[in-house]
Amino acid sequence: TARRGLATEASPSRMPPYPKILKNLEQVRRVLGASRALTLAEKILYSHLDNAEESLLSGTNNGKDIRGKANLKLKPDRVAMQDASAQMALLQFMTCGLPSTAVPASIHCDHMIVGELGAEADLPESIKGNSEVFDFLESAAKRYGIEFWPPGAGIIHQSVLENYAAPGLMMLGTDSHTPNGGGLGAIAIGVGGADAVDALVDAPWELKAPRILGVRLEGQLSGWARPKDIILHLAGKLTVRGGTGFVIEYHGPGVETLSCTGMATICNMGAEVGATTSIFPFSSGHVPYLEATNRGHVAQAAAEIAAAGSKSLLRADSSAEYDQLITIDLSTLEPHINGPFTPDLSVPLSAFADTVREKNWPATLGAGLIGSCTNSSYEDMMRAEDLVKQATAAGLKPKASFFITPGSEQIRATLDRDQTLDTFSKAGGTVLANACGPCIGQWKRTDGVSKGEDNAIFTSYNRNFPGRNDGNRRTMNFLASPEVVTALTYSGSTTFNPMTDSLTTPDGKNFQFRPPTGASLPSAGFEEGNPDFLPSAGVPDSTVQVAVSPTSDRLALLEPFAPFPKGELSSLKVLYKVKGQCTTDTISAAGPWLKYKGHLPNISENTLIGAVNAATGETNVAYDEAGKQYTIPELAAQWKADGTEWLVVAEDNYGEGSAREHAALQPRYLGGRIIVCKSFARIHETNLKKQGVVPLTFANKADYDLIEACDHVDTIGLYDVLQSGGQGSIQLRVTKHKTGETITIPVQHTLSKDQCGFILAGSALNLLAKRASK
Ligand code: F3S
Repeated sequence: TARRGLATEASPSRMPPYPKILKNLEQVRRVLGASRALTLAEKILYSHLDNAEESLLSGTNNGKDIRGKANLKLKPDRVAMQDASAQMALLQFMTCGLPSTAVPASIHCDHMIVGELGAEADLPESIKGNSEVFDFLESAAKRYGIEFWPPGAGIIHQSVLENYAAPGLMMLGTDSHTPNGGGLGAIAIGVGGADAVDALVDAPWELKAPRILGVRLEGQLSGWARPKDIILHLAGKLTVRGGTGFVIEYHGPGVETLSCTGMATICNMGAEVGATTSIFPFSSGHVPYLEATNRGHVAQAAAEIAAAGSKSLLRADSSAEYDQLITIDLSTLEPHINGPFTPDLSVPLSAFADTVREKNWPATLGAGLIGSCTNSSYEDMMRAEDLVKQATAAGLKPKASFFITPGSEQIRATLDRDQTLDTFSKAGGTVLANACGPCIGQWKRTDGVSKGEDNAIFTSYNRNFPGRNDGNRRTMNFLASPEVVTALTYSGSTTFNPMTDSLTTPDGKNFQFRPPTGASLPSAGFEEGNPDFLPSAGVPDSTVQVAVSPTSDRLALLEPFAPFPKGELSSLKVLYKVKGQCTTDTISAAGPWLKYKGHLPNISENTLIGAVNAATGETNVAYDEAGKQYTIPELAAQWKADGTEWLVVAEDNYGEGSAREHAALQPRYLGGRIIVCKSFARIHETNLKKQGVVPLTFANKADYDLIEACDHVDTIGLYDVLQSGGQGSIQLRVTKHKTGETITIPVQHTLSKDQCGFILAGSALNLLAKRASK
């Protein structure tokens, strides 16, 4: 029988399919010509194309102009899902009727664990409160052959780094910080659940070919400067939008000076500048890490591939060109602190005290929190421990609350063996469960800070949007390395500079921290830890019943959407005309609604609740033809019950923001057929098509003014377009509900042949299910 367990030499799924990837790279070289130089990211991405010739040559000036232009259809090697986003991904996957996932996959229960009193008390409580979700995920994992990491086993990105990420691998993860795996030379991309399902059912996953932003690292970090400071500094330079559409590719001599987990920290936070992903080349830091995590066989295979030099899969060609290039001298880089409220407000440590005074930020530090998927490696914890030991020896105790989150059971058990956790606890620190906890709002804060009160915390996390940690939008979260966070926790002050300032010991002496040190890997190896936290083996078992209670309010099985009618859409009604910005958060709000991610009927009660009514300026107030007032989801539900299908009219960039599949699923579930707007955010437009909603744009943007809520709409030409695989033009015949007057509005579409198939079948998954059953 298959064994539960961490990576071993005998786990075949932990080895990237190198022979296939290398063969594909040869094919890419043939298509593009041997003289064409490629970056590392291009090599790995393009060698995962479903059909290299089609993706690289069409619409790209015969392969000369791929980046930013080509539509890549990719076949990733693996998928990882966290517990919150896995729910809808699995519910969708189940509608396809496949016996197992097409690629190896894993589920990690980390986002629903509260941090309050410490792991021992918090974990059982969180399991109790979420048991139906965890039971569902575990049963679905067993049935479909997905490796299941139970609550408390670790944070998705740390577990992925320790077990699955590998040089040259391409993987998708249903979480923004999936690029963490780039620290180990993988192309690892954060996606929504519907995208993950593409990979799980062996359908090509589409991505506009990214541009490549080269970051050349020179010199070597020293003193207090850490890998985290590289990305904190870079975020300040690039801003939160600067990486959009790019893969950040690190290179240069400085790479060889970094540990594997340090590189992962840097890639993790590339998400904060909007990058598609970030990646490091195979380097000397990778070998000991792979060996220490039981993957010596992967290290050896990668080293053999990399031995071919710059022409190899695992390095950029020597003459490869970047679309943008930034050089960072590690030797002169100092620690940085980023925040509050945005990760790109970056201040060097030496200037931070003045900035605090200038901006009137709180001088008192309430809490220091280290860990999270960004900074919870063995190395991070050892260096933090070094500072705690220095302070303890001087008789000091932390002045602010101090929380420590180990990234995985492997890290926790190893730190336990090496008595590092004991050092933290004796100093007054609270060791939380191996989970996200305070990083994602699961922090039950008990230090008396009230909602709405300005206060400062320091964390080694990656995000600091208002309300993210403790639900208080006035909590200012300053991001820094775990070492800076730890040192400041001892001072209890945001203006303390551990590089230059002293603290006073209980016996009145001056104490100054020495720059921290710590090993990057445990000399005695990693501990496996509690066997209950080991993942299940990824072997499908069709006898397992997937656990979804019909009375659950958090989970509901999905019913496939009905296929497109045989003919034009007629007598649709305009549910709502949206004024101004309409993000995915406007369409499907987060916060308390996240609880219903696995229950489409329940979460649909938040549909468009943030949308502004173009006629009245009211938010979430809709009217029917008789002038009766509803909330938007109420009116949609009413029309659904009456059998009336509807459309939404909107302005520019409809569906911008995070790629939230619910923002496409919910309108479809409630009877939405068309979104017509001035322009779409590209990812959301694709998501709509996948769920069978037709996205259309006004041929003349001014026509937005011609159509109102409750007008009746028939399509002209849409059915022909769908049947011909995207050929032809579409118009909307609008009958004004107030006057009975009829006008015709020309609209445009971007439906490809495949996407026409999705709409006709009712959704992309319906089409896949149909194909799978043949
Ligand atoms: Fe979890 Fe925070 Fe990372 S929510 S996955 S620890 S970004």
